[in-house]
Amino acid sequence: MRHFLSIADLEQDELGLLLERSARLKAGPPSGEILAGRTVALIFEKPSLRTRLSFDVGIAQLGGHCVYLSPQEVGLGRRESVSDVARVTSRMADAVVLRVNAHETIEEFARYSQVPVINGLSDLSHPCQGLADIFTIREHKGPDLRGVAIAYIGDGNNVAHSLMLCAAKTGASLRIATPLGYEPLPRYRELAATEARSSGARIEIANDPVAAVAGADVVYTDVWTSMGQEQEYERRRRAFHGFQLNAALLARAKRDAIVLHDLPAHRGEEITDEVIDGPQSAVFDQAENRLHTEKALLCWLLGGE
Ligand code: CP
Ligand code: NVA
Repeated sequence: MRHFLSIADLEQDELGLLLERSARLKAGPPSGEILAGRTVALIFEKPSLRTRLSFDVGIAQLGGHCVYLSPQEVGLGRRESVSDVARVTSRMADAVVLRVNAHETIEEFARYSQVPVINGLSDLSHPCQGLADIFTIREHKGPDLRGVAIAYIGDGNNVAHSLMLCAAKTGASLRIATPLGYEPLPRYRELAATEARSSGARIEIANDPVAAVAGADVVYTDVWTSMGQEQEYERRRRAFHGFQLNAALLARAKRDAIVLHDLPAHRGEEITDEVIDGPQSAVFDQAENRLHTEKALLCWLLGGE
């Protein structure tokens, strides 16, 4: 049995196979009944549109059944211990998707779970988003990502961590620009550096958005204030001044560069309407691709494929 808590849980060749399977699932024909008679539980401590919808729809398309438990219901670690919730859920469901405040919660849950656990977002990583991100980049820039230049502008957060590991495993080049003090955590930088040595990827982290975007094939941003950081909103708005993805910054990238954002967007903060709704935006392809990549993930974890 395998869990999917981080992109680090996938070998480089497994990631490649998952992305190829995602492409086949997206192209059709209908995916069959790989999850017939199987139930996947979604236990979420935070709100969600894409993650909940893509898993619910994807599980139905694979012939399975989905049970969603909202932040108000379970009380992970408050109403009941994380270990007891994991033990009980494992007795009834065939897999669990967890969206948690603290990454340690999902690690603890996985230790006690008898069924595969999928990270549907934690404070440290968002690997399901990473799969859709790298899949979208392949769709637009071709399957060989060696030399494809990705720029990520903004917060060195959960989304940035997973993107870093995806780039490192696929041989892409990733330049991250964050304000001082908002860089990705050393542990993810080290993981990415190790992977990059075997894939040939180049991962650079600095603090100048203009330099990061110069000549890029892909320009990516995420919110400055993530879920759970609302009390830091004003401080972050000031710190991220100059990191907005607007038309002037995008003009520094290649003319055929695509724009990505995991959504939800805080329009007018990290990205302007003009850019997210503009001709270079692949943001809604990226959102749709959550469905295809998560179906591939479920087939791999539960269907033995
Ligand atoms: N990108 C993403 O995970 O969206 P949700 O928070 O709406 O699930
Ligand atoms: N960084 C964002 C991603 C939302 C999908 C957050 O954690 O809120």
